[in-house]
Amino acid sequence: MNNIIDQNIKNRLMLALDVDTIDEAKELVDLLNPYFGTFKVGLQLFCQNGIEIIKYIKEKNSNFFMDVKLHDIANTIERASYNIVKNGASFFNVHAFGSIEMMKSAKKGALIAARDFNLDIPKILAVTVLTSIDEKILNNELMIKAHSSDLVLQLALNAKIAGLDGVVASANEIKLIKKELGDDFIVLTPGIRPKFSINDEQKRTATPKKAFCDGADYIVLGRAITKANDKIEAIKKVYSEIQGEND
Ligand code: C5P
Repeated sequence: MNNIIDQNIKNRLMLALDVDTIDEAKELVDLLNPYFGTFKVGLQLFCQNGIEIIKYIKEKNSNFFMDVKLHDIANTIERASYNIVKNGASFFNVHAFGSIEMMKSAKKGALIAARDFNLDIPKILAVTVLTSIDEKILNNELMIKAHSSDLVLQLALNAKIAGLDGVVASANEIKLIKKELGDDFIVLTPGIRPKFSINDEQKRTATPKKAFCDGADYIVLGRAITKANDKIEAIKKVYSEIQGEND
């Protein structure tokens, strides 16, 4: 790979800051800021050092995705969304299971905060069915008698009706969601495994290139980079894979 970072790729790459301490998180931000458009702050880090890390990411002129998967009554969601946006998130997510009304409240809170603080309106994404919930759990434990893919699609449609920007979806679902809900409806895909790192337990994975070719707008990289011995070499390989001819 040449030394010029492809901005189009960078803007679509997110790094999952799945670490326990602020020092580890800051180190990852410092090292990998040139390669990732957005840092994903999930519950693990947020519950330890949430506000500190998001302030740090903003100071470094980068973006953060608040991956806190909100699910509560509409009024609480509106207020939580307001505060997330006030803190400068570029993306955040809610559970589509919370209902169309709840998702509309998230949007409302976000719009009011963006207006009050003169900030960009972040992208709000819905989580449909967690990849850890299989059909057996759906049918037997949760008593939801639906096929996973039908449910994913229905929840994604609800998110669109509520005015959200898109969904978090596994690699398996990208094409279906794009086909049914349109190209403008954002799909963000985690569970990404670059070619050099395919060896672990994750199901429903795809390489970065395959996810983009299938239509993902954004992809989340985690351990493939954060656990690599040489993280810069690892992310450079990801860029090469994406830019390369073959999948
Ligand atoms: O597995 P990896 O370390 O690449 O995961 C990166 C991020 O993607 C993690 O923060 C994880 O919570 C998220 N993820 C997800 N849904 C999946 C797989 C991973 O949200 N199906």
